[in-house]
Amino acid sequence: MELINLSNVNYTYVDGNTVLKNINMNINPQERIAILGPNGAGKSTLFQLFNGLLTPTSGNITVDGMTVCKENLSKIRQNVGMVFQDSDDQLFNSNVRQEIAYGPMNMGIKGKELDELIKWALNSTKISEYENRSPNTLSGGEKKRVALASVLAMKPKVLVLDEPTAALDPIGVSQLIKLLNSINKDLKITIIFSTHDVDIVPLLADRIFVLNKGEIVLHGSTKEVFSNVDILRKINLRLPRVAHLTEILIKDGFIKSNNLPLTIGQARELFKKNTIK
Ligand SMILES: Nc1ncnc2c1ncn2[C@@H]1O[C@H](COP(=O)(O)OP(=O)(O)OP(=O)(O)O)[C@@H](O)[C@H]1O
Ligand SMILES: [Mg+2]
Repeated sequence: MELINLSNVNYTYVDGNTVLKNINMNINPQERIAILGPNGAGKSTLFQLFNGLLTPTSGNITVDGMTVCKENLSKIRQNVGMVFQDSDDQLFNSNVRQEIAYGPMNMGIKGKELDELIKWALNSTKISEYENRSPNTLSGGEKKRVALASVLAMKPKVLVLDEPTAALDPIGVSQLIKLLNSINKDLKITIIFSTHDVDIVPLLADRIFVLNKGEIVLHGSTKEVFSNVDILRKINLRLPRVAHLTEILIKDGFIKSNNLPLTIGQARELFKKNTIK
């Protein structure tokens, strides 16, 4: 059974602005899903529908078979862990330990079980050394890990991350991608993230939904979506840089290929085959 289902979902803000139009989406357990779209496409609005922060104007959303509605809200929020774009919107406790303990304590977890859960969340996100620090003394990248740990401590089925790499430096981006991939693989947690950074998508997604002006304009495997270059360019997105470079090299006659590599690893394999010995 699918983990998340959106059926004919529309969302209109109180000012009459309809920002999500007829969204249909199925997400399976343990998938890694990218919601790719330019500024204002509706990504953050969509994410707030996943855990009931906003309610669809029409249409239906289910998580693990439960309709997202008031009656199911606490169960939905245990299952859907939301990591906000700005960690300062998420962190409000006086130290990292309390930040992580907050969600599980609200679920009634205490004593040894709580201690073990905190230790697990600290270790999984590699932030044990910050346990007694105040979140507002941490850097942006460190705060992102604390936000992730506080959500992981609820043992959600799905992690929803709004532009997770937006405020990170290049090393921070690689570390977060590695961490999210291991959370997906080892803890079997579904990952849904939004971004307009096309370069990270092939490293972190199996499937992509491309959102523009509130509508899904493309969806499919990472390879399928990035083969629609014209549509992506029309909506102010582009190919990953390595694919763009290869496109130019093919055009200039340096390389022969019908496929564009999306990652440096794939490019390396292609270039090796094309190298004149
Ligand atoms: N509270 C609100 N009231 C009215 N319109 C809103 C509100 N919040 C967002 N919008 C509008 O909804 C549209 C989608 O916004 P949203 O924040 O979901 O986009 P986004 O894809 O997350 O963009 P970004 O990449 O810039 O974060 C935008 O046109 C925005 O102006
Ligand atoms: Mg946004």
